[in-house]
Amino acid sequence: MKKRLSININLKTTKEITKVNSGSIVISVYEGPFTEELKAIDRASNGMLKKLRKLGELNGKLGQGTYLPALPGLKAERTYLVGCGQKRKKISRQDAAKVLAKMVSAAVTSKASSAFISIPKLNISGEGDNWIIQQIAYLCENNVYTYDAKLNKKDKITRNLKKVSITIDSALPIAKLNRSIKIGQAIGRGSNSAKDLANLPANICTPSYLAKESRLAAKKYSSLTCSVLGEKQMKKLKMDCLLSVGAGSAQESKLITLNYKGGKKDDEPFVIVGKGITFDTGGISLKPGAAMDEMKFDMCGAASVIGTLQVMAELKAPINVIGLVASAENMPGSKASKPGDVVRTMSGLTVEILNTDAEGRLVLADALTYAKKFKPQSVVDIATLTGACVVALGHSTSGLMSNDERLAQKLLKAGTTSTDRAWQLPIWDAYQKDLNSNFADIANIGGRAGTITAACFLSRFTGNYNWAHLDVAGTAWLSGSEKGASGRPVPLLSHYLLDQS
Ligand code: BES
Ligand code: MN
Ligand code: ZN
Repeated sequence: MKKRLSININLKTTKEITKVNSGSIVISVYEGPFTEELKAIDRASNGMLKKLRKLGELNGKLGQGTYLPALPGLKAERTYLVGCGQKRKKISRQDAAKVLAKMVSAAVTSKASSAFISIPKLNISGEGDNWIIQQIAYLCENNVYTYDAKLNKKDKITRNLKKVSITIDSALPIAKLNRSIKIGQAIGRGSNSAKDLANLPANICTPSYLAKESRLAAKKYSSLTCSVLGEKQMKKLKMDCLLSVGAGSAQESKLITLNYKGGKKDDEPFVIVGKGITFDTGGISLKPGAAMDEMKFDMCGAASVIGTLQVMAELKAPINVIGLVASAENMPGSKASKPGDVVRTMSGLTVEILNTDAEGRLVLADALTYAKKFKPQSVVDIATLTGACVVALGHSTSGLMSNDERLAQKLLKAGTTSTDRAWQLPIWDAYQKDLNSNFADIANIGGRAGTITAACFLSRFTGNYNWAHLDVAGTAWLSGSEKGASGRPVPLLSHYLLDQS
């Protein structure tokens, strides 16, 4: 487990901004008249801000940024001004998050080791200062993330920022705001752990590696324990379906259980299950070569489960949570499953594997059956399950499907407040027949609605517990020049679980 230096984030009650002695200050600008804070800076700098506004800078438009190094008359070495739009206008969480990300990124990319962020007065529908503070803390951690595990020393990216002070009115409830900082930071760090695991190449991040990292996480927190089933033990439990996925690989498949005990002994746990395909070649139904490297990210669901359990442990959430990780490497090989093979699941249902590239649902089928033994309050699985989900919802929104409307609503709400959003798709009976097979109880592919039929397949293994499925194929990582894991949906999952306590 990589040790990350965390940022020290604290609250400061507002004082004279021109006297703030800090590497950088980050201040909000609104359309229309300058705030008292800006007037003070303008006075101290001999009307610099007024001049800039005349030039069309500092127009206060949402997201507009201006950097002013070494402003005369100010103690702070650098000044960043970020546009926040019209002062009283209601804005969405998304727009607010954009502004806050801009403010935080000014602080993080600066050469300064300390920053003062003056809390913007945003009028966000449904949220107040606690949300803003929590979001800033989350963004600080999220923004300082760099992946350098496999870079040469000389290329290591260095961040100077060590300390962030958020200025607030003294009238605000400090204890509550401090808790918001803690929550935001914990979620940011949990996301970063998930990113670290997901960004590692598949020759390092194998099922055994995920097991090792899970054990290390359990070592770090006394509230967390870990147990791992290998192939022999899974065979005993009749998990032939899960095992069929790793059959073509030299890497041993693993079923990892992370047990977080924060609630009472008898409190029924919330279970989260992650798809942990450490590399998905497609198997005998081999994928085309283009961008196949990105299939190292096919364990992002698993990474989000491990990251979220760390968030729970960090915050000492008063609930019980079980994290399950179903991990295998999907390779072609002489022992690999072939199209048409029929395997028996732990539940007893037989599956015809029409396409070995629809492997995520095969490992999840047995993990979902296994989840019953915990007598869960709810089970949520997280999987980079279908390319079709990327076609339907793109890269900003995860797919959500559920057999319980109340659970679905809770998850959607958690996605909204954390700006880690999901959108619900139906899993009505009409789609179930697409999975009919002539040779087994059920086929592993079928029909045109790929995301929905994948969820329908999973629904056959959920017994009678409340279950939801998050398809994060489009949201768990970014492609192109910014290629890398996003840490999603750790914020959504954390908010959902924290809301239960
Ligand atoms: N891991 C992939 C899904 C995926 C594809 C995620 C591209 C992100 C980007 C999954 O195992 C898979 O291969 N699904 C198939 C299912 C098909 C064979 C029914 C797919 O989506 O093509
Ligand atoms: Mn696949
Ligand atoms: Zn896959």
